[in-house]
Amino acid sequence: MLVEKPLLQVLSGKTPPRVPLWLMRQAGRYLPEYRAVREKTAGFLDMCLTPELAAEVTLQPLRRFPLDAAIIFSDILVIPYALGQKVTFEEGRGPVLEPIRTVADLGRLSAARMTEMLAPVEAALRRVAGALPEGAALIGFAGAPWTVASYMIEGGSSRDFAAIKRWAYGDPDSFRRLIDLLVEVTSDYLVRQVDAGAEVLQIFDSWAGVLVERGLDIWALAPTVEIVRRVKAARPGVPIIVFPRGVGTQYAAYAEGSGCDALSLDQAVPLDLARRELQPRVALQGNLDPMLLVAGGAAMRDEAARILETLASGPFVFNLGHGIVPQTPVEHVAELCELVHGWRR
Ligand code: CP3
Repeated sequence: MLVEKPLLQVLSGKTPPRVPLWLMRQAGRYLPEYRAVREKTAGFLDMCLTPELAAEVTLQPLRRFPLDAAIIFSDILVIPYALGQKVTFEEGRGPVLEPIRTVADLGRLSAARMTEMLAPVEAALRRVAGALPEGAALIGFAGAPWTVASYMIEGGSSRDFAAIKRWAYGDPDSFRRLIDLLVEVTSDYLVRQVDAGAEVLQIFDSWAGVLVERGLDIWALAPTVEIVRRVKAARPGVPIIVFPRGVGTQYAAYAEGSGCDALSLDQAVPLDLARRELQPRVALQGNLDPMLLVAGGAAMRDEAARILETLASGPFVFNLGHGIVPQTPVEHVAELCELVHGWRR
């Protein structure tokens, strides 16, 4: 008998006996086997765009832990790269991009070679799809336009988002051209990931929380709604998880109006509020503080239990509130997996 994968069951609104679990950035530097592959590769982007390597590191965490999903190893910044922007990842500095600052700079971007440049991601997805452990689902992903645009305009990570806000608030008409371009190419890219074997999609809007209310509606929520609409029009069955990190009470607007199947909660979202206001509308995912996974022990166990007690009676996927950090002890991840899978509603 074919039993539906637990993650897919939850995303269709069911509550399977076992709470499914995966972890954002589950492939990464906290794993020695990841560091070994990374050391042998020229650069981080080369690793993302070499299908054998991307597939290998995607599967690494699933060999160690009984995770319910593999998330394809890639990065949200492959989109600016495929649009022709210069993107590098520097040791200890994170991503560095040749920043786009003016309308004229937009003219340097082109979607013409996009499909070809991102074909290795599709190839990696096909490899992983053929090698998944039983019961595990394959997740494809992309960044939401606001977050991707922030790296494109700031030239990397930012503390105050001064350049992107100056543009978005000061000249919304020309800023919209960049957002519209990103909606277009991101929707196409996500559809291609589905065709290559992704069974679930997640849209990361890591910096949605830095916007004012109206800015959030226009530059974070609306473009995400449009991507969800386009992808679902093209591939109706595919479940979509949206992660608008840091938006606080505005999570309700996403539950109400984004058309997604699940919302990924950051660690600051109050659990009772999530159960009352959000879970009646969408499945939820989250939201253990990644630093509790570093700390481990009773602090980690108590908070994980509190999350499960509050949210696991409805459609729920256990995850972190943001990605795993490099200093995370591997044993803590193993203990968390045991705790979540041992949980009975
Ligand atoms: O979750 C997974 O295991 C899949 C892989 C994945 C990566 N990045 C790999 C990665 C995913 C889903 C992402 C998404 C991503 N990338 C986001 C959204 C989620 C979030 O964390 O907010 C963002 C904002 C980026 C951009 C990015 N990529 C930054 C800011 C950095 C530097 C930070 C760091 O940890 O070094 C990266 C690099 C990156 N992406 C690494 C990994 C494993 C580390 C690079 C390395 O190995 O040297």
